Amino acid sequence: MVKRQLPKPTELLELMQFKKPELNAKKRRLDAALTIYDLRRIAKRRTPKAAFDYTDGAAEGELSLARARQAFEDVEFHPSILRPAESVDMSTEILGGPSALPFGIAPTGFTRLMQTEGESAGAAAAGAAGIPFTLSTLGTTSIEDVKRANPNGRNWFQLYVMRDREISYGLVRRAAEAGFDTLQFTVDTPVAGARLRDKRNGFSIPPQLTVGTIINAIPRPWWWFDFLTTPKLEFASLSTTGGTVGELLNAAMDPTISFDDLTVIRELWPGKIVVKGVQNLEDSVRLIDAGVDGIILSNHGGRQLDRAPVPFHLLPQVVREVGKDATVMIDTGIMNGADIVASIAMGAKFTLIGRAYLYGLMAGGREGVDRAIAILRSEIERTMQLLGVSSVAELEPRHVTQLTRLMPLAGAPAEAIGGGAPRVRAVSDSSASSPSRGAGAKAPAKKSSTAARTGAAAKASGATKSAAAKTAEAGTSSAGRSSAAAGS
Ligand SMILES: Cc1cc2nc3c(=O)[nH]c(=O)nc-3n(C[C@H](O)[C@H](O)[C@H](O)COP(=O)(O)O)c2cc1C
Repeated sequence: MVKRQLPKPTELLELMQFKKPELNAKKRRLDAALTIYDLRRIAKRRTPKAAFDYTDGAAEGELSLARARQAFEDVEFHPSILRPAESVDMSTEILGGPSALPFGIAPTGFTRLMQTEGESAGAAAAGAAGIPFTLSTLGTTSIEDVKRANPNGRNWFQLYVMRDREISYGLVRRAAEAGFDTLQFTVDTPVAGARLRDKRNGFSIPPQLTVGTIINAIPRPWWWFDFLTTPKLEFASLSTTGGTVGELLNAAMDPTISFDDLTVIRELWPGKIVVKGVQNLEDSVRLIDAGVDGIILSNHGGRQLDRAPVPFHLLPQVVREVGKDATVMIDTGIMNGADIVASIAMGAKFTLIGRAYLYGLMAGGREGVDRAIAILRSEIERTMQLLGVSSVAELEPRHVTQLTRLMPLAGAPAEAIGGGAPRVRAVSDSSASSPSRGAGAKAPAKKSSTAARTGAAAKASGATKSAAAKTAEAGTSSAGRSSAAAGS
């Protein structure tokens, strides 16, 4: 029987602690966003469809992007308990300089199209957060204006080597003069990927006013107000304009770029040079041997080759092969600070975010980018605390395992073509058979219970017994990831 009483006025008063309403609508909107996906929802509401889809979309069936995000979602963390970590140090050293957080902002083209503050907002927010900002060759803010927006922070420049080499070389010189400290040489864009959403939307640069765009503009008046009342949207560093993004890219890019271009740029550029868009082990090794300062495992956020390797899957074998002293970075699919923690644990020195930053920008300009960085920062901090680590350097492969649903299949061996069951191939087959050059590399090669599970899964899905066993023995990326945790 519940005993009842009349509520006391003092107790009632205690309960009635109304929060002061937030009068600033933008702050209210951004404060309500707790995740990057929340920012994405706001961005979608506020941005014209063609511009949102250009940012949000990827190439062809958008499988590369979906798989990269899925790979992060399939991470399982393994915390250590009773390790007091009241505060965590999220800072790191990257390419000869500091970064307050283990991620920076990736280069993105046409950024002022998404929201008029564009690259200036990104650079200023990055500077305030103490992380590097990368300006794209296809940026809509000049090298010098980015420097003005982020005068004391680290600015990096992304280079596309164009048909007209002199244009590219001129940009390299300007970025060096403006004090940019790192050059990212993007190599995954010999031709433009097929961005089907752009084609379906009839998306062009600059945007054209059609009946469709005008109808779509009605619920988004602020975007159009910004667009029509701020300087014309054009490339800050290039004179080419007009046409779809694919047409622009194909006109500007040279499909014949090669290692020789890397040599020329190396001579022109006084700072650090990293190659962005590396997608296999062989190229990783070749580039590190060629003396680049770092590589970025990336499939361009899924915007180029669809069904490309998932960078997070590639990471452990590359780190194992090139060694712990090489600077291996990663991007594509990062939507949560936990994705960044998992990447660092698996041996990445640094990570880059593309869309996560752009969703913030579209949701609220500079403050929106601040919010995106703050969300990722708090997710990184909380994940590290819950894992029982107090610095980035303490993150290790033992903290991460992964579900194995995305195991790659072998590239059509003769017996499989002849009708045999598909073989499950370890992504680290080649590194397992060649001696590791990175003796101290973080990624382990030990056999584990996950490897055994992988084998069981392979068997269950119809793989041959020997293939399953081979997978388990080779110490696959999944197996490698799990060895310490599962073994302890
Ligand atoms: C809208 C957009 C434009 C991009 N433009 C460029 C570019 O000009 N140069 C480049 O190297 N990468 C470009 N990228 C790729 C990013 O640098 C980065 O590799 C990718 O966004 C990472 O994936 P994420 O968006 O899932 O974080 C672009 C990505 C997006 C989303």
